[in-house]
Amino acid sequence: MADEIDRPTPRRKPKPEVTRIGGRDLSPATLMMGFGFDPMLSEGALKPPIFLTSTFAFESAAAGKRHFEGLTGKRTGEMEGLVYSRFNGPNQEIVEDRLGIWDGAEDALVFSSGMSAIATLLLAYTGAGDVIVHSGPLYAATEGFIGKVMAKFGVTWLDFPAGADRGEIEQVLEQARVKAAEQGGKLALIYLESPANPTNALVDIEAVAAAREAVCGESQHVSPIAIDNTFLGPLWQRPLANGADIVVYSLTKYAGGHSDLVAGGLSGAKRWMDPVRALRNTMGTICDPNTAWMLLRSLETLEIRMRRATENAVRVCDMLKDHPKVEGVGFLGLLAEGPQLDIYRRHCTGPGSTFSLFVRGGEAESFRFLDSLRIAKLAVSLGGTETLASHPAAMTHLSIAPERRAALGITDNLVRISIGIEDPDDLIADFDQALAAV
Ligand SMILES: Cc1ncc(COP(=O)(O)O)c(C=O)c1O
Repeated sequence: MADEIDRPTPRRKPKPEVTRIGGRDLSPATLMMGFGFDPMLSEGALKPPIFLTSTFAFESAAAGKRHFEGLTGKRTGEMEGLVYSRFNGPNQEIVEDRLGIWDGAEDALVFSSGMSAIATLLLAYTGAGDVIVHSGPLYAATEGFIGKVMAKFGVTWLDFPAGADRGEIEQVLEQARVKAAEQGGKLALIYLESPANPTNALVDIEAVAAAREAVCGESQHVSPIAIDNTFLGPLWQRPLANGADIVVYSLTKYAGGHSDLVAGGLSGAKRWMDPVRALRNTMGTICDPNTAWMLLRSLETLEIRMRRATENAVRVCDMLKDHPKVEGVGFLGLLAEGPQLDIYRRHCTGPGSTFSLFVRGGEAESFRFLDSLRIAKLAVSLGGTETLASHPAAMTHLSIAPERRAALGITDNLVRISIGIEDPDDLIADFDQALAAV
């Protein structure tokens, strides 16, 4: 009788998943249409229904116990059944499976925003006395969270500039190791953002991994390298292949891709995801089912959207680079021979479609340009189907002290542009007339 009650929960996911056909690994673009979802488990619905429920009924008390054992790590292997929507739900699980495919990651987690992903990650990996080493610049809210919020918990930080070479990075990691030992903590996390928002500066992930190995030796396994891959991922950069452990996203940007949702993501090996999942379970920073469903819709077109936007950006930047009203263009497709191009060749497969435009002049000239745009919308954010333009020094990075902004290259004539999937000739005409008005 007991055996009958304690029978395994019926399957909830497609098994086995089809990921290879005729000796060929299916590409992420193909897998985005069906991976992780079996219509036959949902009345034949081709697309996953949105599971609007706060909790999940157990088949039996014993099944409930098994699910909680899975949830709390007392039982290893995949979670057998769902428990409560603060922990996970079907829509979120499918997005997590599909996000992991893009990054070549064993596991992934989705969050209610990029910042809630970042905050949960930082809180999961650090404690009093610990030191975070990060590259600079970072998205301003990330920098603020590390500098102001983590400081309240006794966590300190050191940084190195995005373009730093292996020697410089090693020096900073060594300082951090010494500082952490003095504070009774550890070098808890190496946090990168590459390309950096808003300068597009690239971090040499391979150099960071080599420096960590040199400085930390065996204990490198307690200091994961996390990297915010929002600007190029998941199509144009796969940082796990270059030595990163955790990939961070604002899924609000290219992954969501239509400027109609806010979400975040992390991916990496299960051992790196587990502590973050446990804290997400406690805090409830997971994204809601509706947002997860929209992300599934978006991931189906990710590759064509990112390719078209990048082709457009190449065309637009080609016009901008020689324009007399333009001082420079910070576009990864226009890097000159040097260390940044070397990193680009080793880490990236495409330049993306977000770049910085340095208008000749200062804030007044930049504002005139922004106010004259007719197709491009004046808004912060990036990675949507539409072209957006903003002024980081006066907007997203206003909270950063002017001296630090200057040191990071966030000047008053820097306009950040995210190119969408419109007709490129229309965009070129719009930028041309807006520059003429400067
Ligand atoms: C590079 C980067 N990381 C993280 C974030 C934060 O993401 P979210 O706005 O989804 O919280 C942003 C937002 O602009 C970003 O540009």
